[in-house]
Amino acid sequence: MTRLQDKVAIITGSANGIGKAIAVRYAQEGAKIVIADFNEEALNSTVDMLKGQGVQAVGVKVNVAVEEDIQRMIDDSVAAFGRIDILVNCAGVLDKMQAAHNVEDDVWQRVMDINVGGVMRSTRKILPLFQAQGSGVIVNLSSIAGLTGGRGGFTYTAAKHAVTGMTKNIASHYGPQGIRCNAIAPAQVETGLVASMEGMDMEGIKYATRGVNMMPRAGQPEEIADIALFLASNESSYVNGVVMAADAGWSAY
Ligand SMILES: NC(=O)c1ccc[n+]([C@@H]2O[C@H](COP(=O)([O-])OP(=O)(O)OC[C@H]3O[C@@H](n4cnc5c(N)ncnc54)[C@H](O)[C@@H]3O)[C@@H](O)[C@H]2O)c1
Repeated sequence: MTRLQDKVAIITGSANGIGKAIAVRYAQEGAKIVIADFNEEALNSTVDMLKGQGVQAVGVKVNVAVEEDIQRMIDDSVAAFGRIDILVNCAGVLDKMQAAHNVEDDVWQRVMDINVGGVMRSTRKILPLFQAQGSGVIVNLSSIAGLTGGRGGFTYTAAKHAVTGMTKNIASHYGPQGIRCNAIAPAQVETGLVASMEGMDMEGIKYATRGVNMMPRAGQPEEIADIALFLASNESSYVNGVVMAADAGWSAY
């Protein structure tokens, strides 16, 4: 239970779902945790839950699409714990499964600002810290829609392909400086993500779910957290720039 002993991890989007499961898993392995999320109520309850288990945890209310919030997230984390070792970019939203010909500008903008801009902003801010200490790990949440073409809405697919590309770019450019960046690409994981989406595009859903009967099963947040633990720990020291499908073999077909 010491695979992340005394490491400091910022996890965006960790008040709920996959991010929360990652926070719990990292804490079990000795990490100090920053819960960064824009849902204040859920954020406070997750921080309280961790503290109740004796974990060193702080919460930062942040919208990852806002530059000042990202600055504050990193600055407050350093102020709280003195350093940062791990950044998990998990905050993300869906695009109502809109097919390409139905894309609404506001949906495009919001998904890009959060799912792509958020990853860019936190990565841009944290890299100088990682460079100065000669080490650091970034774990991004891509999606099976970031590896395949037909399993999500148009905007979400574009955004998650961008996450896949950013992951490889960082690994390639900063790997020689002791910095690793990998991503996880889950299929369907049982969280509140889909439930939070109203006004879905039924045509887009029809297109995107054609192959869903080939998906062996949905995953659990804890199964994604175990991968995130491997990618953050020293056990993956020789792994950089990988986007790992987590889909029970669905995309292998
Ligand atoms: N659940 C799935 O089936 C699935 C599959 C593939 C990839 N993913 C990806 O995994 C990540 C987590 O998804 P989840 O299923 O846990 O979702 P979730 O909705 O359960 O949790 C997402 C969390 O992110 C927070 N968040 C959203 N936008 C934010 C913003 N702008 N700033 C700060 N916090 C924000 C929410 O408040 C929430 O706490 C996302 O990037 C998602 O795209 C999920």
